[in-house]
Amino acid sequence: MVELACGTALPSIAALARGAKVTSTDISLLSLRLAEKSAEPLTRDNFSTQIFDIIKEPPQKLLDLHPDIVVASDLLYTEEVAKGLGRQLGVAASNGISIITTDAGRLEGQGQRIFLESFRETCEDGPNGSAESSFVTEEIPDHILDLGVSAMKYGGQVDRAVGVFEFPPAAKKSGVAMVINAKTCEITRTDILYLRNCILVLMQR
Ligand SMILES: C[S@@+](CC[C@H](N)C(=O)[O-])C[C@H]1O[C@@H](n2cnc3c(N)ncnc32)[C@H](O)[C@@H]1O
Repeated sequence: MVELACGTALPSIAALARGAKVTSTDISLLSLRLAEKSAEPLTRDNFSTQIFDIIKEPPQKLLDLHPDIVVASDLLYTEEVAKGLGRQLGVAASNGISIITTDAGRLEGQGQRIFLESFRETCEDGPNGSAESSFVTEEIPDHILDLGVSAMKYGGQVDRAVGVFEFPPAAKKSGVAMVINAKTCEITRTDILYLRNCILVLMQR
């Protein structure tokens, strides 16, 4: 798994704990150092970090890491990054890599529009139909909100839902829980959604 713009790298660390081979990337060296620190108690053999600029790097650099899945969370907060992410993930999806990204409605929803435009421009329309793929709003389960997020405020209100974009769409890939990255480990769709919700919780702190 490769995580783009990992920040605190929670999905990376959780995937690592489940046995995945993980590369965490960010433009910030500090983020990578924090991710390395978090990974210390876990096996180091399967973990690496790399500076990666979503806007400037050629997508080939991402392909060269040979991920089965690319995860990117909460990045649609500037037009430039949303566009760059769409391009990176579009090329990844065109090359058969599963992708998942999430957004809590940044830029008043415009982040998703910009991302989707860029993604569709880049992603060659395969049998899974990038043109129809879109963000799906999913509720944050009460047991996550119960962790304390209901007391936290983001943008003046508590987000109870988050937009999830994944390609290929889970429903078309499998009727039940989607197993991602079957080559190296099993990360279920539920795991990813749980991670995404955790990230949202952290984001609001
Ligand atoms: C809103 S945080 C999201 C962090 C993490 N994915 C999360 O969900 O908690 C944005 C992250 O994007 C990184 N970032 C900003 N611009 C970037 C770029 N052009 N390329 C790669 N990472 C970038 C920042 O360093 C920061 O870690």
